Amino acid sequence: MSDNHIRSREIYEHAQQVIPGGVSSNNRLVEPNLVFTRAEGAYIYDADGKQYVDYHAAFGPPILGHSNKEVNAAVSAALTKIDLVGVGANEMEIRLAEKIIEHVPSADKVLFANSGSEATFAALRLSRAVTGRDKIIKFQGCYHGHHDAVLMNVISAPDKMGKKDLLSKGMTQQVVDNTLVLPFNDIEEFARTIQDQGDQIAAVILEPIPHNIGCVMPRPEFLQTLRELTEKKGIVLIFDEVITGFRHGLGGYQKIAGITPDLTSMGKAIANGYPLAALAGRAALMDHCRPGNDVFFAGTFNAHPVGVAASLKTVEILERPETYKHLYTLGERARAGIEQVAKKHKVEMSSTGFGSVFVPYFMSGPINNYNDLLRNDTKKELEFRRGMIQEGLYMLPVAMKRNHVSLAHTQEDIDRTIQAADRVLGALA
Ligand SMILES: Cc1ncc(COP(=O)(O)O)c(C=O)c1O
Repeated sequence: MSDNHIRSREIYEHAQQVIPGGVSSNNRLVEPNLVFTRAEGAYIYDADGKQYVDYHAAFGPPILGHSNKEVNAAVSAALTKIDLVGVGANEMEIRLAEKIIEHVPSADKVLFANSGSEATFAALRLSRAVTGRDKIIKFQGCYHGHHDAVLMNVISAPDKMGKKDLLSKGMTQQVVDNTLVLPFNDIEEFARTIQDQGDQIAAVILEPIPHNIGCVMPRPEFLQTLRELTEKKGIVLIFDEVITGFRHGLGGYQKIAGITPDLTSMGKAIANGYPLAALAGRAALMDHCRPGNDVFFAGTFNAHPVGVAASLKTVEILERPETYKHLYTLGERARAGIEQVAKKHKVEMSSTGFGSVFVPYFMSGPINNYNDLLRNDTKKELEFRRGMIQEGLYMLPVAMKRNHVSLAHTQEDIDRTIQAADRVLGALA
């Protein structure tokens, strides 16, 4: 950290004394480890008073921008009436469930939780319960949360490819053994695995766009094959739309792709930054979670009125026709602008993304799965990101992490970003 970050450094050193590593979530420890003390609209402010255009967006939630006034007002209004009671139903959660059912093709019924990890955990347990099988399939490069069945093979070192790459010690061996990890977009490998072991597989879980490694677009025939073969073998197909849900459209990526999974997990942008997650799916599956039936689903804070009120208002704003138009237009402007300046400086780059997400990889050639991303020049990418941070554009200084545009970002923010990229890439070249 430079001498301009005196206050950030002081706060971080204090944090380390009482919190392991000084952060409450694994991916929050980065270099420079700035401390942010204010967030509003498209901007975040560090402890030393510097403003940044925020593209990190807390890994994705504030799709309308930070501290959206309408959302905050809805939360305040809800709190004048009720907070957490924790028994029976609440009318706000019914309204939100109806909204999700209206928009998300796979949703006949909805359950609310607090985090994406809880939603994917519940989806996998439910899948095992209804199929009576233990194994699951996930794909290299996809992240689905911090529980044992899925905490593996996201951004793996080259020597870990094709092997189990666990992100933590202490994971239960039997659970780990029951997860098969396959390459994304590889139809042949998937079909072979289903042919050999399909009868033992409870669920296939995927990010329909693996955004935890930036942005790798699914081949339409890959998603189609997943749907056909899982249906044929009685396997539960789970789209983990914790990132793609609400960000790319109210119906998630499933609506855009025209492929309907059996279960869908959602989180992040669902409540513009307030904690809320959801599991939705076919009624015949979801009804197993009815109290008294055979799958246990619970949580003290589930469907907390704060998150639910925030989500209802977020959905209302996302339903306005101009919202996604703005998000998609600015996302495209960022992708095209950065690509143009990379070309100008002859920097090898694939400026990819989808909708409001933009990801400049420092490589060329086809990108079908994580294996292809091993060609990415991580060192150059980190230099670029750190250069952009110095310019006042906050792109998380971690390779392959996606950048997010929000409703609060303006065309001027994007143009300023492209001008800064011009300078940073010029210096890199
Ligand atoms: C696709 C996906 N699924 C699940 C999760 C886990 O969500 P949470 O961090 O809210 O537990 C994440 C978090 O980044 C995610 O990106």
